[in-house]
Amino acid sequence: MTRKLYVKSYGCQMNVYDSHRMADVLAPEGYAETAAPDDADLIILNTCHIREKAAEKVYSELGRVRQLKDGAAREGRRVTVAVAGCVAQAEGEEIIRRAPVVDLVVGPQSYHKLPDLLARKDREEAGIVETEFPVEDKFDFLPAPGKAVTRARGVTAFVTVQEGCDKFCTFCVVPYTRGAEVSRPVEKILDEVRNLAEAGVREVTLIGQNVNAYHGEGFGRTWTLGQLLRRVAETPGIARLRYTTSHPRDVDDDLIAAHRDLRQLSPQLHLPVQSGSDRILGAMNRRHTRADYLRTVERLRAARPDLALTSDFIVGFPAETEADFADTLRIVDEVGYAGAFSFKYSPRPGTPGANMSEQIAEDMKAERLARLQAAINRNAAAFNAGCRGLTFDVLLEKPGRLPGQLTGRSPYLQPVQVMAPSQLTGMMVPVTITDIGTNSLFGVLAESPRIGPEFTKPLEALGA
Ligand code: SAH
Ligand code: SF4
Ligand code: F3S
Repeated sequence: MTRKLYVKSYGCQMNVYDSHRMADVLAPEGYAETAAPDDADLIILNTCHIREKAAEKVYSELGRVRQLKDGAAREGRRVTVAVAGCVAQAEGEEIIRRAPVVDLVVGPQSYHKLPDLLARKDREEAGIVETEFPVEDKFDFLPAPGKAVTRARGVTAFVTVQEGCDKFCTFCVVPYTRGAEVSRPVEKILDEVRNLAEAGVREVTLIGQNVNAYHGEGFGRTWTLGQLLRRVAETPGIARLRYTTSHPRDVDDDLIAAHRDLRQLSPQLHLPVQSGSDRILGAMNRRHTRADYLRTVERLRAARPDLALTSDFIVGFPAETEADFADTLRIVDEVGYAGAFSFKYSPRPGTPGANMSEQIAEDMKAERLARLQAAINRNAAAFNAGCRGLTFDVLLEKPGRLPGQLTGRSPYLQPVQVMAPSQLTGMMVPVTITDIGTNSLFGVLAESPRIGPEFTKPLEALGA
């Protein structure tokens, strides 16, 4: 019997990836994914705990889910509700106490157990809390031969290579919700990338909470991320490679050399700095200075002059003064970020930052955030404006907004609208940027390809 599964993902790319894998692991059990929760038999909320607002979203969503579940029960239909992800890991049983609508709580290390947990849930009606599985198991369920497989969902895909974090920045819950850093073996990653490429994927983003701390085993030795990228880049059909999220401290010579050597490696790097003030970086336990960061940026740009950088920022960390904040504003202009995410500091229970004295008032945080965002937007607009007239490779992903248009992404992740025949979907084509909109760039197919014509051919032509 086919049952319908609705998965809603909050938070980072790891959750997006995990949500897809949960659907993959449930597919052989007869669950087909649906885009709307209304007619689902199983609803999974894959949650995020990073800031208070993110965590609270889950409870308001569970209110809506309860109405759905009650409505279905009146029609004699049973809906199972599961909470997964970082709130599940951090708040466990409290979720079932606060929201009795929840049948199952499952932490990020246990998704491979979902079919078992659901079967058990079918048998007994008790609330089960399952979060205590060894982390190594997590990677094993990924592309398990003959059972769950990693399904491609379009021309771009995430591939987890690393999970967890040992950095313990004083503001952050990730080391607690995702546990210690673990790297996935090289062979498994290569297999997954090969499968995806064969299914039509052209762009792969290697993901991890701290992806450049990668130190996976493979072919009898330990690998760095730079070495892994070289190997993944050899996969036939993979025209573009990215990786995220990196920690400035783990940018090593191998990685910088990969940016110099690999034409598939996108010239865009997300390298969060969080603050431009040495005093605050110290209090955050980032373990690098402003000068260290700027030196790393300089070395990366020497290796890859067209590299665009993006970042995350936190404003209003405890004891942040106006002078500290001015250092943050200054680093935005010094690096000239192509874009950045910025957040008001949110004290998270159990993290050292939450207990620090001199917490900053909310209105002060809001005021600083607005000034920071103005600086970021100014830099992002300048970066986008600089793209006018350039010709670069755009990976065409899907139909665009207007008839005859396709939407793709530039090497810098900007959405690009191009007038192009639909047969070009899934291909990398050279596009000349003619106009800059608020949310996308507009371009026309360039007459002469800038990069070798192999990227404009379908996979079969690549001999894969
Ligand atoms: N591993 C990544 C960050 C993952 S969390 C890194 O080291 O940069 C994503 C972003 O959320 C962080 O970069 C940070 O800017 C923000 N963030 C994390 N904890 C936060 C908190 N307590 N309050 C506000 N923003 C936070
Ligand atoms: Fe959190 Fe810091 Fe680890 Fe990033 S490096 S996940 S911010 S503890
Ligand atoms: Fe959120 Fe967990 Fe990712 S806290 S940002 S979903 S690792």
